[in-house]
Amino acid sequence: MNKYIITSALPYANGKLHVGHLAGAYLPADIYTRFLKLCGEDVIYICGTDEHGAPISIKAEAEGKSPQEIVDFYHKSIKESFDAVFIEFDNFSGTSRPQHHQLSQEFFLNLLKNNKINTHLTKQAYCEHDKRFLPDRYVEGECHHCHSQGARGDQCDACGKLIDANLLINPICKICGNTPIIKDTTHWFLDLPAFSDQLKIWLETKENWKDNVKNFILGWIEEGLIERSITRDIDWGVPVPLKEAESKVLYVWFDAPIGYISSTIEWAEKMNKIESPSLELGKSEKKWQDYWLDKDTRLVHFIGKDNIPFHAIIWPALLMGQEKEYTMPWDIPANEYLTLEGEKISTSRDWAIWVEDFVKDFDGELLRFVLAANAPETKDADFSWKDFQNLVNNSLANVLGNLANRVFAFAKKNFDGVLRFPVYDSSSQSEIGFTQWSEFVDEIHTAYAEFKVRKAIKLTIDLAREGNKYFDEQKPWVVVKENPKQAEEILFHCAELLRIISIVFYPIMPKSMLKMREMMNLCLPLQEGIKGGLRVIAGSSTNHPLLWSEIQNTPEQYIIGDFEPLYKKIDDKEIETQIKHLYEKSKV
Ligand code: 2FM
Ligand code: ZN
Repeated sequence: MNKYIITSALPYANGKLHVGHLAGAYLPADIYTRFLKLCGEDVIYICGTDEHGAPISIKAEAEGKSPQEIVDFYHKSIKESFDAVFIEFDNFSGTSRPQHHQLSQEFFLNLLKNNKINTHLTKQAYCEHDKRFLPDRYVEGECHHCHSQGARGDQCDACGKLIDANLLINPICKICGNTPIIKDTTHWFLDLPAFSDQLKIWLETKENWKDNVKNFILGWIEEGLIERSITRDIDWGVPVPLKEAESKVLYVWFDAPIGYISSTIEWAEKMNKIESPSLELGKSEKKWQDYWLDKDTRLVHFIGKDNIPFHAIIWPALLMGQEKEYTMPWDIPANEYLTLEGEKISTSRDWAIWVEDFVKDFDGELLRFVLAANAPETKDADFSWKDFQNLVNNSLANVLGNLANRVFAFAKKNFDGVLRFPVYDSSSQSEIGFTQWSEFVDEIHTAYAEFKVRKAIKLTIDLAREGNKYFDEQKPWVVVKENPKQAEEILFHCAELLRIISIVFYPIMPKSMLKMREMMNLCLPLQEGIKGGLRVIAGSSTNHPLLWSEIQNTPEQYIIGDFEPLYKKIDDKEIETQIKHLYEKSKV
């Protein structure tokens, strides 16, 4: 059994969560984690908020609050949005916590000890009006690579390239709008060129990575790696642990990915407390190290495409430069962007659908369905309210929901809800069963394993469509009059299909699939072999609500209990209201 650490890019604690965030780095990771847990793998899903850097302090200054106040507020808001759409982390930490500061400083000191950090006297943008240096997002201007406007001092959103803030054309101070001057200051630089060969060798083993990731990295390496500054002249962040750098902090992109480890440490400590409260400290140390210091652990980073250089070059170099032998990223499934009604999502214009607003009007699970069915896996994808309505009505309500409803209703009416395992004889016309669906099941399994969520959804809905076709063709409503036993067989096979769907669709629709299982009186997470409400697999430290292998365990009978429609259709009026609201709020 492999161990997996699944991570999603740590969201900046400077704003609310919108649908674009979910589609890129969080939903695909949650689906993959749920899939692996279904397969009985030993997997932890780790995240937290990114609480340092210019994005946080700019927001704090704009609102007249302390950075910590901003961070605490948005950490809570972001976590609540994740909960509302059933994104379930094993741990969700934050990078302003002491544990994280300590580990980031250890990373820095190790690199320094290994001669992988150099100091340079540099020229930085400085605002004479505000009397301060302007690192990263504190300065904006025209991109020196692609010449689009609005490039920030750290990165250009238009071309995705990292920016040398001193080369920005027509730079302005983000705080007061004045033109900065250039002033000398000493900074510490990560010696990326020193990792070049090691990185190349490591990357050559990554044949199956997505093209967008591989091409980006190869481009970077071909251009030649350069030293990267990893300290900043601001006062919010992890202090540089050196006397001579007293007023400086580590660059946010230095400490942020270390959050994947510090959040795992926090998880290990929490787990230890639950499992054995009196345990010695050393035990939780072993628990996180079992994942991070095992080179066979599969470390998978889910990110949006703008995060590729940091995760595929800089972060691996930071890991390589440590005393401890950390596991390296096994895969980096980066996703493209989500647009909204054909336009780029913009938080400043409020051209966005906020998760907290969505769940006031609809079930959060429906958002999972639509974003996964239309995931930006290989190219940008669009969210539109009309698509949302069509997908929910046509795939969920009319196909899967309809199958469940007609099967349950028929079983209740004609068989008191009890469907017994068919005993076939040679005259039986309806022999069909797991083998009939096994090809679908295998293909769905492969799709999840290859991060192809769109395909997994399509196959699952096709499977439900097959179920409806089978019901229509077998005409149990006619058969029941002449041969009730045969009608019961037909219904049994339909129930069997619904049970299979409740497992294969669980990674995407955990809530409604568990609800359907409840209607069918099937084993729920709150039964047998359970710890803290979830099933625990021997040899694994993580929770498993259901198992893929249970697909083959056909029960002797199905007992359909009380049921209600799984999905409600969305009418035109509801959608018109949403569209109107979106356009109105973005005009202000
Ligand atoms: O782009 C972002 O939103 C960053 N906060 C992502 C950080 S990912 C990781 F390295 F922590
Ligand atoms: Zn200024």
